[in-house]
Amino acid sequence: MAIRKIRLKGDSILKKKSRPVEKFDERLHQLIDDMIQTMKEENGIGIAAPQVGILRRIVVVKVEEDVHELVNPVITKTCGEQEVTEGCLSFPGRYGITKRPKEVLVEAKDRNDKKIALSGEGLLSAIICHEIDHLEGILFESRIVKEIEQEFLDKN
Ligand code: NI
Repeated sequence: MAIRKIRLKGDSILKKKSRPVEKFDERLHQLIDDMIQTMKEENGIGIAAPQVGILRRIVVVKVEEDVHELVNPVITKTCGEQEVTEGCLSFPGRYGITKRPKEVLVEAKDRNDKKIALSGEGLLSAIICHEIDHLEGILFESRIVKEIEQEFLDKN
């Protein structure tokens, strides 16, 4: 496993659309392992392949100790709406309030090309939506309805 370099705000790759994964091979497994390690190293709760410079439809989401790997994820159902405080590994120090579905159902493949489904509520729903947005080249800054000052976060 290796830590990969995170692409930061302003890198044009972040605004590109990712292609589906077609080969479920050792290279894919290596990439997913590296994404997980990179996310953990940066204390992130989610990461998408374009953030490490790979335009393929892969995301990893983490809630507490559970890490979910989603290859070619598709959101099949959403329910409700919530306001959440979001940040992004590609935007160090920037936070904002966004509106996301309260619940989401996603279908995907695992690293071995097996069909999986994941449902998320609350924070997990928001992370799933944030990461899948990355695959379309959509960044969370475009979803922000209210900016949050860093000083405010430090004090609370
Ligand atoms: Ni992000």
